[in-house]
Amino acid sequence: MTQCDLKGLLRNELGSNMTILAMNTAGTFSGFYHTVVAATNKQILESPLQGIRQHPSAKKHPTFGFTVQWQFSDSTIAFVGQCFVDHCGKETLESTWLLREEVLSHKDTWKAPRVGTSIFTFIK
Ligand code: BTN
Repeated sequence: MTQCDLKGLLRNELGSNMTILAMNTAGTFSGFYHTVVAATNKQILESPLQGIRQHPSAKKHPTFGFTVQWQFSDSTIAFVGQCFVDHCGKETLESTWLLREEVLSHKDTWKAPRVGTSIFTFIK
């Protein structure tokens, strides 16, 4: 793993796992997300993700974004974040996410969004 190429196996504070596969030269990447929590009673399934990483600046703390196509829920989520490297060389991905639940009518729009933050660390 080179600094902030994002590739690897990551875990967040909830224990959800995410695998980011190789990134192409345009900065797009794909992978898989396995959440340990969900607002549905359906069985949780590993779900594909697609993202982009911004061209790393001279400071090499690139921003990124990705979305997950849940295989067990009708909601859509977008994560945006930034990679940081501490003084020991340990990388973390700090992110903010916005999820839209599918509701049956626009009258229910008020309860459709969920928002939060998540910090991912590399476990492999
Ligand atoms: C859903 O509930 O509609 C799909 C699952 C959403 C799981 C969320 S995504 C943000 C937060 N971080 C996680 O790792 N899981 C929850």
